[in-house]
Amino acid sequence: MITPEKAIRFLKSKPALNLSQIEKEAGIPSKTLHKALSEQKDIPAKHLQSLDTALRKYGYSDAQFDKAQIISIVNHKGGVGKTTTVINLGKALSLLGNRVLLIDMDSQGNLSQCFGVHDPQEQIIDALLHNTPLPLVPITDTLYLTPSDIRMAYKESELANSIGADRRLALKLEEARENFDYILIDCPPSLGICTTCSLVASSSCLVPIQPEASAYHGVESLFNRIAEIRTYINPSLTVKGIVFTMVHKNQSVHKSMMAHIRENYKNFPIYNSIIEVSTVIKQSQVAKEDLYSYSPKSVSWQQYNQLATELIAL
Ligand SMILES: Nc1ncnc2c1ncn2[C@@H]1O[C@H](COP(=O)(O)OP(=O)(O)OP(=O)(O)O)[C@@H](O)[C@H]1O
Ligand SMILES: [Mg+2]
Repeated sequence: MITPEKAIRFLKSKPALNLSQIEKEAGIPSKTLHKALSEQKDIPAKHLQSLDTALRKYGYSDAQFDKAQIISIVNHKGGVGKTTTVINLGKALSLLGNRVLLIDMDSQGNLSQCFGVHDPQEQIIDALLHNTPLPLVPITDTLYLTPSDIRMAYKESELANSIGADRRLALKLEEARENFDYILIDCPPSLGICTTCSLVASSSCLVPIQPEASAYHGVESLFNRIAEIRTYINPSLTVKGIVFTMVHKNQSVHKSMMAHIRENYKNFPIYNSIIEVSTVIKQSQVAKEDLYSYSPKSVSWQQYNQLATELIAL
């Protein structure tokens, strides 16, 4: 049966639902759900059975909340907004009521640095090579980070030559999956062992694309790699979608490139939410903060928040 936490996470993931209507259908006192969401009051246990029945009509299922969705943010082109997407999508998902783990699979360590984690003593590469526990650095109550730094680059060939290299992250995340709703993996700008490990461990992948010719040309080889991973190692890997990043909304080149990609890749979900170019994003990263903490009213934060809502609904 549904738990109060799952009910709240479900309702937060669907902000358009009419709470009064659900309360009526479940036969529970009015404002019960409003209070649970806005004042963080408990939903009394006696209402859970009828709430369970009512919410299933709106798409709730236990399976949805049992294990984390593992999503690789991937594009071997550098500087397209992968790390920025992991930070802010992760934050938005956590504020929408989910427990979120961010994994830094890039030896540049940008994700870790953006949260002020430098020179981490315990990092993902050690867990992969020596089967030690997954390091978890708390960022907030519901947002955690597994960090990396340049040491991963020194040990990458050791990982590549290890037995079962490409399955090691998947195995490591099996336990963590029980404790989170979303695990987002920040992939490096390459199709090497770290990206392969990430895709093998993932239930899906999200591809940020800057709508420019140079960014578009490499996309075909990325989708070929995803297809290979699916064929040979991880048949359940899906494409969670394409998100346009660093968009100049009024530039005709960007507009026509986005239209072209929407047409050519119409078999994949392409998000309506786009992330425009904005200096506040750079400023937030200099300040080592996510966009919500740095500038909650910024358009960029709203765009990432909208992306999170769209991704949950997909
Ligand atoms: N929408 C945006 N508007 C302006 N600047 C952005 C935007 N998104 C990201 N940036 C900036 O662009 C740079 C590259 O972004 P990011 O690090 O997220 O890309 P990446 O794909 O992870 O790069 P890499 O391939 O090197 O890992 C960073 O300085 C970041 O602050
Ligand atoms: Mg990056």
